[in-house]
Amino acid sequence: MEQRDSLDQGLQRLMEQARQAAQNAYAPYSSFRVGSAVRLTNGEIVTGTNVENVSYGLTICAERSALVRAVSQFGPQIRIEAVAVTNLNGGSSPPCGACRQMLAEFVLPDAAVVFETVEGARTMPFSELFPLAFEMKLE
Ligand code: THU
Repeated sequence: MEQRDSLDQGLQRLMEQARQAAQNAYAPYSSFRVGSAVRLTNGEIVTGTNVENVSYGLTICAERSALVRAVSQFGPQIRIEAVAVTNLNGGSSPPCGACRQMLAEFVLPDAAVVFETVEGARTMPFSELFPLAFEMKLE
């Protein structure tokens, strides 16, 4: 398939770690188990999974779980150079809009984002996935 990438080793490994994280999903309401892994410019890899809530809107996605863990562990100066998202359901799982906006705060514009589609893994630069992010320039 055209959209199927041959992933470089680093992204392959990141996808494997995302898949591992998805094993810990708490998804009793949707049964959709998502895992994410972010690689930081300091070389660290941090994973996350989705954690749902009976009040559905409180659910946190896998990508945002990974992001808030990364900031919590390594501080606000982190920069993300690669993002992987996968799921255990055989579906597509590009990052949702909320996750894109949250990632925009810490991700490098040319960071590779790799995610599952029904045709296989797809990779694109973050700036292509989320152009024109809202930002606020303070005086
Ligand atoms: N989900 C993620 O973890 N990441 C996304 O980018 C979109 C959706 C989760 C939230 C919810 O637990 C489940 O997938 C179904 O929407």
